[in-house]
Amino acid sequence: MPSENDYVLARDYLDNSRLNLYHYHWIDVFGYRTHPKIPIDGSDLRIADVGTGTGVWLTDLGARLPSSVQLDALDVSFHALPPKEWLPQNVTVRHWDVKGDVLDDLVGVYDVVNMRNFVFVIKNDEIKHVLANLLKILKPGGYLQWGESDIHDWRIDKIHPDNKTDAHKRLMEMTLGQDLRLQATWVGEMTQLFSEAGFEDVEMDFRKPEPHLAFAMHQCQLIIHEIIPRQTRNESVRNEVERLLPEVHKETVAGACFAITRRTVIGRKPKV
Ligand SMILES: C[S@@+](CC[C@H](N)C(=O)[O-])C[C@H]1O[C@@H](n2cnc3c(N)ncnc32)[C@H](O)[C@@H]1O
Repeated sequence: MPSENDYVLARDYLDNSRLNLYHYHWIDVFGYRTHPKIPIDGSDLRIADVGTGTGVWLTDLGARLPSSVQLDALDVSFHALPPKEWLPQNVTVRHWDVKGDVLDDLVGVYDVVNMRNFVFVIKNDEIKHVLANLLKILKPGGYLQWGESDIHDWRIDKIHPDNKTDAHKRLMEMTLGQDLRLQATWVGEMTQLFSEAGFEDVEMDFRKPEPHLAFAMHQCQLIIHEIIPRQTRNESVRNEVERLLPEVHKETVAGACFAITRRTVIGRKPKV
């Protein structure tokens, strides 16, 4: 069972602000909080955000739904979440390890389950068990929505062919190379994995952000490269990243950024 420390990111104010800003970028890219095919017009819905982090998806969605809708924030740590006292009254906080077992009172209870930004959390040999757990906690006919950045399919966009991008390349290779948790490749196979897990009407919506938004998302996500070597306590990588980041910044302002496709996959649990 993972402890809350078994995590490559930091849950500090820098990391939390990154997640909050990234959420609004994400909504700009996709144009929705829940995929248009997911019905959310009931007043007695129960919605879970698994690995809720700062809770920004849940609270942003909740502000647009009746206050009778029950919103459950599930995570293994609540260090990123506002204090319970400052959450909307219909938000409930619950410790749940998505890689562990499903307790009886969570079986078949949710109309909608959301997952997002788990590529550095779930390894290739864990994804099938996680999907089976998510299927279990949904009501028959309920929807899973899962958003990820396809980080392993990264490229670099630049405004002129002769723009330098060496520091970008080196930075990404160093970040992804330093820990097994950073090497999961399941994001590219999500639709197939959903279908194999038993979801129906599986659909993938993939978006390449408009260049100005991709540029903003790039700068927001550069924070990750600084945080990860701090968490993995890899001194040599940390020193190299410190040296590289000003170089990356120079390349960025001259007109270069990581180009990463964002995917939202949805699937419905069979009605019977
Ligand atoms: C990168 S954050 C994403 C937060 C949020 N989903 C978002 O998109 O803004 C990953 C979250 O997953 C949580 N997490 C890590 N391992 C987990 C596990 N085994 N079960 C449930 N949540 C987990 C972390 O605590 C963290 O809040």
